Amino acid sequence: MRHFIKITLILLIIVFLSAVLIYVIDTITGTNTVDQIKVSIDNILNPKEEVVEELDTTPLKVEYFTTEVTIYQGSTSVTLISNKEISIDGESKHSLVLAQLDEGNSPKKYYYALEINNIGIGDANVSLNVVDKAGNSSNIKVKVTREGFSLPFGMNEIEDWENSSYTSIGDDLLALVNKEYKLIDDYAPSDLLNLNQDYLLYTNKGDILLRKEAADYLSLMLGDLYDVTGRNVVIASGYRSYIEQYSLYASWVRQLGQSEADKISARPGFSEHQLGTVVDFIEAETGLELTNDFDDSTVGKWLLQNAYKYGYVLPYPEGKENITGYLHEAWHWRYIGVDNANLYKESGLTLKEWLEQSNNRIP
Ligand code: DAL
Ligand code: ZN
Repeated sequence: MRHFIKITLILLIIVFLSAVLIYVIDTITGTNTVDQIKVSIDNILNPKEEVVEELDTTPLKVEYFTTEVTIYQGSTSVTLISNKEISIDGESKHSLVLAQLDEGNSPKKYYYALEINNIGIGDANVSLNVVDKAGNSSNIKVKVTREGFSLPFGMNEIEDWENSSYTSIGDDLLALVNKEYKLIDDYAPSDLLNLNQDYLLYTNKGDILLRKEAADYLSLMLGDLYDVTGRNVVIASGYRSYIEQYSLYASWVRQLGQSEADKISARPGFSEHQLGTVVDFIEAETGLELTNDFDDSTVGKWLLQNAYKYGYVLPYPEGKENITGYLHEAWHWRYIGVDNANLYKESGLTLKEWLEQSNNRIP
């Protein structure tokens, strides 16, 4: 009996000392052994199923259209369209930004902007692999030629608007392009036609281009304008590529300084002219100048009343500068499609606000 009491006492002392030891260790290491033991027991009693992500092993298909590009500063972006999520293989000074996921198609279309960085003057052959999660890869090769370009004094490069995102489907007649949304640098429409040669419209310089549907309706509108008023307008500008907008914006900065230039000219990538659905008009009554007196001219008044019937709307109206980001431009008209222009006209909103409400769209 004495022997039994002795053993019990020793056991109690061992348990007590162990408890003290665990308490001291937990206090020093900041752990909670009791909870850990509980979790371990729980795991044994209720084993969790391991979640294994299923790998999509369908072949990777990546399309891109720019294989050669000329740029004026050290970086540019080109469009990649992939059927799967991709990333750049390995370390790279270039980067891949998912601009838009189009789930309306099967397979889905992932629109990426491949941002090509740190290009020096001269030619650079950019070659990199993009990979999907299953390890399939695709090689991208772009020859980039950087030409010298002298920017206005004090300016090292033309920066993007801060916090802007990409608008990746420039072919969409309702694409948002403003100081918050920019086109990928290489976006260019594929159905551009020459307004002077193909449509016999008056232009103040050769080779003013516009997308086919916008040009068809422009031609119809200007024909009716002439029939009613006996007057013509002259087209002063249409499609402008990224690089053309680059030098145009730089020339405004040179003349006015950057903050004034930003009120009247879009930074490269941020111009609706890159969409190929925008025209600038001039006409004789107002001295063939880009002027807001155009609003009060015979043709200007007719356009304000009737242009929407041909799908054309005025993105930069009077008094809405704080919303649109640009001063009023009576001469700058954008084609958004006839049905959309009718809907837009009823909204009473600026085009920017209306486009932001994507539910207004006619598919
Ligand atoms: N003048 C307009 C804002 C443009 O440059 O696109
Ligand atoms: Zn314009």
